Amino acid sequence: MLWPLLLLVAPCLPQDYEPPRYTVSLELPPERRWEPVLRHYNSSEVREAIDFVFRTSLPKWVHAIIRPLAEAELAFLVREPYAGEIKGIARTLGVNIGDVVALNLCYEATAFCTSIIAQDDKGNVYHGRNLDYYFPDILRKLTMDLDFIQNGKVAYTGTTFLGYVGLWTGQRPYRFTISGDARERGEWWKNAISAFFKHSSPVSWLIRDALNNDNDFEAAALRLSKTPIIAETYYIIGGTQPKEGLVITRNRDGPADLWPLDPLRSEWFHVETNYDHWTTPPPSDDRRTPAIKALNATGQANINTDSLYKVLSVKPVMNSNHSTNHLGGVDFSRPQHITVYTTVMSAATPEKYATRIRNEV
Ligand SMILES: *[C@@H]1O[C@H](CO)[C@@H](O)[C@H](O)[C@H]1NC(C)=O
Ligand SMILES: *[C@@H]1O[C@H](CO)[C@@H](O)[C@H](O)[C@H]1NC(C)=O
Repeated sequence: MLWPLLLLVAPCLPQDYEPPRYTVSLELPPERRWEPVLRHYNSSEVREAIDFVFRTSLPKWVHAIIRPLAEAELAFLVREPYAGEIKGIARTLGVNIGDVVALNLCYEATAFCTSIIAQDDKGNVYHGRNLDYYFPDILRKLTMDLDFIQNGKVAYTGTTFLGYVGLWTGQRPYRFTISGDARERGEWWKNAISAFFKHSSPVSWLIRDALNNDNDFEAAALRLSKTPIIAETYYIIGGTQPKEGLVITRNRDGPADLWPLDPLRSEWFHVETNYDHWTTPPPSDDRRTPAIKALNATGQANINTDSLYKVLSVKPVMNSNHSTNHLGGVDFSRPQHITVYTTVMSAATPEKYATRIRNEV
């Protein structure tokens, strides 16, 4: 008599699901290329979501500076293609250009994450990530996978939130995969805004630059290591050849540390959360040790995108309630399920790129 019970219960349980997958044509001018994506959404609901993001994540003084400046001096403040894309998104959604610029800075340093890079015993490289954030319910609805098309082919694939032109997760097929995890602590907005005015790159725009421009693992690793960025971060990059796996710990001006896979010395995987790998994570937020345990239990011979997804689903690697209050003034101490999505990927087999929205409790 299990069946009737399952039928009654199953529809009520929150389930994981695939986000929508859209294409963005890089052959369209930047101002036009997001229109087909935005058409799938209700603009008034999106405007409400953006207001909520501002109320919870954006200091008032940042909004007060960025909004008028972006409107008057977009071309000075933001480089192409991002300026054109932001202009087009603002027009389509019916919001202020300055608001879309501010929205694009909101997640720079507050995304809690787990990234894993691993190599199996045949030399195949796999890459996975969880993206955790404080108001997952809203972001789950805004998450999408995107195929960026050029010359009729997928130039690169990425996962992002509606209205956000940068990528925290992406793949250039047959070349490399990249994810980014936040590294900043505390008072980072001041530094980020002054660096932005000096034309340092937002962290997630640099990921997209690499996916858009670089033809191999080394070129992407070099760009991600040396280009000035507005907030400290970890870049995790995987390639298509054995040993092509690297965790880059970034200061704003350059690399603080490079940590490559070293399978010959049995370092066949690296786990990066939001703490420097040479330090011990705080006991209140140790997602690293449980991830390492799960990888050890999986074994190098058995690692692939499916088993990596299972590792990323182990609690508290997934859905840990990181108790630090990064957002200032907002009470996020209530336990909640904060993993927004999980992506697994492997540049050598780009069709395996898969994101799931984590909706289970
Ligand atoms: C968009 O959402 C608003 C608010 O939920 C609703 O009133 C409106 O009817 C929706 N518009 C469309 C076209 O569905
Ligand atoms: C994982 O395995 C390595 C190698 O056997 C071992 O040194 C390490 O302590 C293990 N870590 C955990 C958390 O189980």
